[in-house]
Amino acid sequence: MSILVTGGAGYIGSHTCIELMNAGYDIVVVDNFYNSKKESLKRIAELSGKQFAFYECDIRDKKGMDHIFKSEKIDAVIHFAGLKAVGESCQKPIEYYDNNVNGTLALCEVMKDNGCKKIVFSSSATVYGMNNVSPLKETMPTGGTTNPYGTTKFMIEIILADLFKSDNDWSVSLLRYFNPIGAHKSGRIGEDPNGVPNNLMPYITQVAIGKRPFLSVYGNDYDTHDGTGVRDYIHVVDLALGHVKALNRVLSKSGLDVYNLGTGTGYSVLDVVKAFEKASGVTVEYKIVERRPGDIATCYSDPSKAYEELGWKAERGIEEMCEDSWRWQSTNPAGYPD
Ligand code: NAD
Ligand code: WQD
Repeated sequence: MSILVTGGAGYIGSHTCIELMNAGYDIVVVDNFYNSKKESLKRIAELSGKQFAFYECDIRDKKGMDHIFKSEKIDAVIHFAGLKAVGESCQKPIEYYDNNVNGTLALCEVMKDNGCKKIVFSSSATVYGMNNVSPLKETMPTGGTTNPYGTTKFMIEIILADLFKSDNDWSVSLLRYFNPIGAHKSGRIGEDPNGVPNNLMPYITQVAIGKRPFLSVYGNDYDTHDGTGVRDYIHVVDLALGHVKALNRVLSKSGLDVYNLGTGTGYSVLDVVKAFEKASGVTVEYKIVERRPGDIATCYSDPSKAYEELGWKAERGIEEMCEDSWRWQSTNPAGYPD
């Protein structure tokens, strides 16, 4: 079985490539390195002990993508490729809609032309918008997204659902991730953000290695147990294993399925800071600052559907997430080399 992994050099894609090969799948990776480095592919091969096909190509390049489908026998696609920075998406909406929405349309067209109708898609808890109350369930209404990034995920979910409605031979799995953190146990692959990190964990690890003076905690007056925002952090390896389960399902039957991939447990910003300090032995300086626009107080999943239908649940706790994030950051202080 050969699986095309778009965006396979990125943070979640690289961890998923390893788990796919561990599960016995052959993989073909396509990436344009917009937000990743070639070194991550070398390390995937090193950690898995396996070689795999790789194409440097933009998923919007239909000719290039068609060449990949004609050269490789692709049974299904796991589609990670896209832009993901919430703040940047407000500054560059055209780039976000073009890359994420047009990229997915181009990919689906090439898949259809080549008779490949099985896709696992990286969606996000962001599609639940601002108004649903946690624990979030797949049956809750989506939309009401507050930034172009989130809206691209909402739109792509609709596009893939319409595709399935038009042709029930398609098999589509929409995976709504909560907050992925952590890294592979080896410390060889992990999250390598460009510039100032937007997300909490890479910011914490950069403070811990001395790259940034302190963490700004965005508000301590939310209606949560300590006033700071509560999120459902999930270990990236658990997330990767969720993709293997979702892939098994799309390969075995046609249909349209939506799954939350989270732990079901919420931790506040200060809970994460404390857990990180315990795991690393390093003190993380922080200052309470104004709330960040667009943030909500609490967001966590009800992950029971993924357990019932995929037999998947997250196994790794917050300590392990922090330990593994720290191992990656402390052994790769500058991220991947160029
Ligand atoms: P990432 O930026 O590390 O990985 C994305 C990869 O896609 C990168 O290697 C990038 O170079 C590549 N890429 C981007 N545009 C491309 C294009 N047009 N053609 C080919 N390759 C392209 O991000 P990630 O954290 O691994 O996220 C993967 C997916 O999961 C994204 O779709 C993201 O929106 C989604 N997601 C991420 C999070 C998160 O917090 N990390 C949460 C929910 C959903
Ligand atoms: C977590 C908590 C912040 C940074 C985003 C996207 C979402 C998904 C995951 C892609 C919040 C607080 C953060 C900092 C802080 N991505 N924080 N100081 O906002 O839950 O989700 O990433 O799909 O779509 O919106 O994640 O890591 O940015 O924030 O206090 O420097 O940490 O306010 O409470 P978020 P995050």
